[in-house]
Amino acid sequence: MKLSQRAINIKPSATLAISDKAKEIKAQGKPILSFSAGEPDFNTPKAAGDAAAKAIERGETHYTPNSGIAELKKNVALYYKERFGLEYQPRDVVVTCGVKAMLYETIQALVDPGDEVLLFAPAWVSYVEQVSLAGGKAVSVETAATGFSPTAGEIAKKITGSTRGMIINTPNNPTGAVYSEETLRMLADVAIKHDLWVIFDEVYERLVYGNAKHVNILQAAPEIKDRTIIANGVSKAYCMTGWRIGYALGPGDVIKKIDDIQSHLTSNASSIAQWAAAAAIQESEDEVLKNRAEFETRRDIICGLLSGIKGIKAGLPDGAFYVLLDIRNTPLPDDMEFCRRLLEEKYVALVPGAAFFAPGYVRISYACSEADIREGVSRIKEFIEAL
Ligand SMILES: Cc1ncc(COP(=O)(O)O)c(C=O)c1O
Repeated sequence: MKLSQRAINIKPSATLAISDKAKEIKAQGKPILSFSAGEPDFNTPKAAGDAAAKAIERGETHYTPNSGIAELKKNVALYYKERFGLEYQPRDVVVTCGVKAMLYETIQALVDPGDEVLLFAPAWVSYVEQVSLAGGKAVSVETAATGFSPTAGEIAKKITGSTRGMIINTPNNPTGAVYSEETLRMLADVAIKHDLWVIFDEVYERLVYGNAKHVNILQAAPEIKDRTIIANGVSKAYCMTGWRIGYALGPGDVIKKIDDIQSHLTSNASSIAQWAAAAAIQESEDEVLKNRAEFETRRDIICGLLSGIKGIKAGLPDGAFYVLLDIRNTPLPDDMEFCRRLLEEKYVALVPGAAFFAPGYVRISYACSEADIREGVSRIKEFIEAL
């Protein structure tokens, strides 16, 4: 059967080889410790589960409006008003099947073949594939030399006549970096100067530690509101990855097009999950704060332990639940090979940096118990010392 060029071009996730291998080793009964999770290990808030059960009892199990139920859109708009002081009407919100689908639909709405889209590397892998699927070209701007924060100088090197937009992700997966207000202001100035649209992905906005503060780009630069689409959802803040609820906030005409694209793709997000998300946003603040504090404790523990391993650099990331380890000064700087051998020899699963345009790095997720963190880092230490 002849495949489309699109299907031929799409790259499978670079993490697949490792996760398949991890499953194979686990099936052999080996004590696998996985630090590859991209999701919180806490339970979904009770309020969300209760609201879902009630929605089923009420028979809310049919199609909803394509762009989402009014209650959820209202709660999202209210959340943005209270948390960031941003004014959005429910009609400026579209509810999607997770943030991933939201990004796909938004990119379909904004990218024409040949358009170039700036990403700040290391970057989450799906951005690139989604831009390619729209016929565009993802152009990566390096941030590794500047504390994983973008700089005007590096961006200037990558702007061309075909640059149309940029995707910003803070707090960042995989680096954990939280962009400062000045950085966001600089990015907004670039967007204005070169007439670019901005996708601002803040799915990890509730997970920020120490003195760091998450800033929404529209707080730093309100005048780019009409060129900005905000991406957020309940997956990370409310531990609801399996419920698949994301949302976009932005100018009404773009939101309408995202809605239209969704109407031919998935239709509405799950009715039951939408009711659960509406309750989570309104009633689960205590759980969000408790989980954030627990993640901060784990971050301090894992970074403290990693700092005792010679040859690697980890730093103290300000947000999300990832640490990106620089392994370039170990005897095994090839991240794919490092992860493969660590898994086979010590039964520890990490994600190779290649999955994020960060060769020479490996990503550790600390969305797991303190006991696992202690045991896992001790195995990583033994592994590196024996290289
Ligand atoms: C930066 C970033 N954006 C978006 C997503 C997608 O979130 P969702 O599970 O809601 O589709 C993820 C998930 O890992 C992510 O890391």
